[in-house]
Amino acid sequence: MAVEQKELAVGQELVRIEDLHTQFFTEQGIVKAVDGVTFSIEQGKTLGVVGESGCGKSITAMSIMRLLPEPRGRIVKGKITFFPPQQNNINQTSVDITALDRHSSQMRGIRGRHIAMIFQEPMTSLNPVYTVGDQIIEAIQLHQQVDRDTARARAIEVLEQVDIPDPERRISEYPHQMSGGQRQRAMIAMALSCYPSLLIADEPTTALDVTIQAKILRNMRDLQQEYGMSIMLITHDLGVIGRMADEVLVMYVGKKVEQAEVRNIFHNPLHPYTQGLMKSIPLIGLKDKKLVPITGSVPSPFNLPTGCYFAPRCPQAMDRCRREAPPETEPEPGHFVSCWLYK
Ligand SMILES: Nc1ncnc2c1ncn2[C@@H]1O[C@H](COP(=O)(O)OP(=O)(O)OP(=O)(O)O)[C@@H](O)[C@H]1O
Ligand SMILES: [Mg+2]
Repeated sequence: MAVEQKELAVGQELVRIEDLHTQFFTEQGIVKAVDGVTFSIEQGKTLGVVGESGCGKSITAMSIMRLLPEPRGRIVKGKITFFPPQQNNINQTSVDITALDRHSSQMRGIRGRHIAMIFQEPMTSLNPVYTVGDQIIEAIQLHQQVDRDTARARAIEVLEQVDIPDPERRISEYPHQMSGGQRQRAMIAMALSCYPSLLIADEPTTALDVTIQAKILRNMRDLQQEYGMSIMLITHDLGVIGRMADEVLVMYVGKKVEQAEVRNIFHNPLHPYTQGLMKSIPLIGLKDKKLVPITGSVPSPFNLPTGCYFAPRCPQAMDRCRREAPPETEPEPGHFVSCWLYK
C-alpha cells in the first residue's frame, strides 16, 4: 500500500495567523513574546522569518505547533487557522488550532502529520535510547494506517532523500552513532516522513558546516518541489533567506515590522530595522561589503519604550515615533510595513 501524498495547490492559504498574542507569565512580570502578529503561510511556498535574538520567532512557531509550556507560556489572544489541503477532491473543513486542547487527539493529529517542526538541536527531538529507524517508523505509524514493512520502506526512502549514506544499514543505528550533520538530517527525514503540509524549520542548519548546510537546504527545496509542502524558515542568515524564501517576515520585539516578497526585502527594504539588518548581517557573495551593526540592543521585555519599539535605535526616528506605535500600512501591493515614515 502506497503512503498517500497530498495534492498540490501552490499559493492557496494553508495557515492563517491573526492578531496572535503569546505571553509568558514570569516572576519578573509578563513577557509579550508575540504581540499581535498577523500573517499567512501559502501552500508550496517558503516564508522566511528574520529578526534579532529574542524577537519572538521561535515562540511564533511554538504557538502554531501548540508546544508552549502552557499555562506559564500561552496564547492569550488571536487565532491560528489550519486549512487542510484538498484530498481526493474533497475540501476539508478548517481547524482553529487555538481552540484545541494541545493534548487532544486532533491536535496530535495535526502536529507531526500536517505540521512538522525541526529544531536547532536535533537531540531535543531524537530519543537517544531508540534507533533512528524505530523513531521514524513510529512517527509514520502514528499518523498513517500502514504496516511496519511499508513504514520501514518509507523510512529508508526518506533517509535516502536527505542523503544519509547506506540507509538500509544506518536505519538500525542510534542517534549517538551519527555525526551532528547526519542527526540533523535524520531529524529532517523524520519530519518529512509523513509528508507534512507545513515544515517549520527553526534555525535548521546554523550549527552545521557550510557544505552540509547547503546540501540540507537543497534537500529541503527539492522535497518541497516534489510534495508541494510549505516551509516556515526561521534563520539569522539572510543568505539562506535569499536562497530559500518566497516571502519574508521581519520581527522586532514580538511584532511584525515588515513583510514582503523576498526581492522587495532585499532591494527595497522599507523599515529602518530591516535596512539595519541588511547592513549588519553578512550576505553570501557580498563578503567585501562593510558590515555596520545596528546601534544599541533589543530592549528588555520588562522595560519597553513607548511608541515604536525600534525608535531608540532608529537613525530616522521622529518625535511621533517616540510617542505613538505606528500602524501597519501597505505602501506597495503585498508589501507591509509598520513605520511612521510611510504613513
Ligand atoms: N520559557 C520562557 N519563559 C519566559 N520567557 C520566554 C521563554 N521562552 C521565550 N521567552 C521570551 O520570549 C521572547 C521571544 O523569544 P523567542 O525564543 O521566540 O525569540 P527568537 O526570536 O526565537 O530568538 P533567537 O533568535 O535567539 O532564537 C523573548 O523575550 C524570550 O526571552
Ligand atoms: Mg529562536
